[in-house]
Amino acid sequence: MKRMEEDVERILHSEQELKERVRELGKQITEDYKDDEPIVLICILRGSVMFFADLARNMDLRANLEFMTVSSYGNNASTSGLVEIKKDLDCNIEGRNVIIAEDIIDSGYTLSELKKILMTRNPKSLKIVCLLDKPEGRREGVDIKPDYCGFTIENEFVVGYGLDYAQMYRNLPYVGVLKRSVYEK
Ligand code: PRP
Repeated sequence: MKRMEEDVERILHSEQELKERVRELGKQITEDYKDDEPIVLICILRGSVMFFADLARNMDLRANLEFMTVSSYGNNASTSGLVEIKKDLDCNIEGRNVIIAEDIIDSGYTLSELKKILMTRNPKSLKIVCLLDKPEGRREGVDIKPDYCGFTIENEFVVGYGLDYAQMYRNLPYVGVLKRSVYEK
C-alpha cells in the first residue's frame, strides 16, 4: 500500500513550525487572560483536536476543556449559512470567558453561525483562535475574523494536524498541501 505521505505535494507548516507558533499563541492568550476569570476553551471536533490539545498545554490558565461537533451547510444554497449542532457543550457558558479553538476558517460560515449561537448564551466574552485562516475562501456577506491566528494561508487544499480530506490525513504531524491527483481522481 502507498504511504500516506506520498499523497502530500509539499509541507506548508512543519511540525516544528506548528509547535513554535502554537506555543506563541498559548503565551499570548495566557498574557491576555491571566488576570481574568478561568476560561472555557472549546474544541470544534474533529479538525481542531490536535491544535486544541497542543494549545491547551501551552496556556498557563485555569480552563474548562469542552467539545462541540457542528455541521455546516454553508455551501448548500437552500440552507445557506446554517450550522447544526451535533454535539453540544456539557457546560453552561453564561458569564464565562469563552474561546473557540478552530483548525481553519475558510468560507467562515461555521464560525459566524456558531458565534451567533453561543452569544445567545450570554458569555462574559467570546473569542476565536484559529490555526489557519484562508481569507480567500470567505463567502460574501460572511464577516468573521479570528482574534488569534496561527497562519494566514493561500487558497490551497491543506491536510494534516487535524485537517482531513475524506476523513483521512488528520494524523499527519504537519500541515501539507494535498496532491491534486488525490482529490481529482
Ligand atoms: C472544517 C473545519 C471548520 C470548518 C471551516 O470542519 O474544521 O470547522 O470546516 O470551514 P468554513 O469556514 O468554510 O465553515 P468540517 O465541517 O470539515 O468538519 P471536521 O472538523 O470534522 O473536519
